[in-house]
Amino acid sequence: MKKIFVSRLLPDAGMELLRNSGFEVDLHAHSDPLKPEALRRRVKDVQGLICLLDDKIDKTLMDAASKLEVISNMAVGYNNIDTEYAASRGIAVCNTPGILTTATAELAWALLFAVARRIPESDAYMRSGKFSGWQPLLMLGGAVSGKTLGLIGSGRIGTAFALMSKGFRMRVLYNGKRNPLLERKLGAENTDLDTLLRESDFISLHVPLRESNYHLIGKREFSLMKTGAYLINTARGPVIDEAELVRVLKEKRIAGAALDVYEQEPQLTPGLRDLDNVVLTPHSGSATTETRRRLAEMAVQNCLEILRGEACGNRVV
Ligand code: GLV
Repeated sequence: MKKIFVSRLLPDAGMELLRNSGFEVDLHAHSDPLKPEALRRRVKDVQGLICLLDDKIDKTLMDAASKLEVISNMAVGYNNIDTEYAASRGIAVCNTPGILTTATAELAWALLFAVARRIPESDAYMRSGKFSGWQPLLMLGGAVSGKTLGLIGSGRIGTAFALMSKGFRMRVLYNGKRNPLLERKLGAENTDLDTLLRESDFISLHVPLRESNYHLIGKREFSLMKTGAYLINTARGPVIDEAELVRVLKEKRIAGAALDVYEQEPQLTPGLRDLDNVVLTPHSGSATTETRRRLAEMAVQNCLEILRGEACGNRVV
């Protein structure tokens, strides 16, 4: 009987599918990831691996799993997997695209407003008992409506995020492949990166992590941004040079940043937690009950389809 290893406890709907799959299932039933050597031991004789974005699935791991047929990532991003090596070994790699698009776009808006209108700071202020009444200069933030929104990456999530700006009557710039839908619905302008950085009030990142996107936003790029600009990252941490981000936020070279993902996740870059012009969330772009349930179902389904020799629409390799 084929065996599947699941690297973390999944939402019930996914576990239920696994229980009824007819395959043998081994589960790391904890919320913390396994250390690499423990993970290697657990995949030794499995055909299927269902893993999460913080499980590093590299050559060493795959070499420890001689029977492996499929790696099913419960995430749309798969930068944690050496897909080239998987392909060379004939191991299928699957992801979970589409279903987290809206949830992630919604979180990007939540972050945008949270940092622009200083919501976490305001909440802490109220809880501290310091509020003594309305004041003309209390918690002043940045306006959103009518401002320029800069989108870096024009794929599924970036597009959903930009379309949600409609009610705020924003000028929309985007950098990425041509997107006729954005141009038709929003009059969005496709610009080079530097123009976008110079002209945007809000910049939101929606690119996958690839070598070419590593530190896409660094010293030079920060120097081009408006002093009143806000940067939002719901994509992948290493897209930003976070040491530089800390520096520009400290110097108030830009107005603020809101991050859901981190360069050294789960560690925070030194200095980040001490700043009050940054809002931080724990990589929760897809974290709605409904979306996480559907992600688990899709990740399990992908794995079962490959192990049963059926066609799978979510193969990246
Ligand atoms: C989340 O970051 C994902 O890639 O699904």
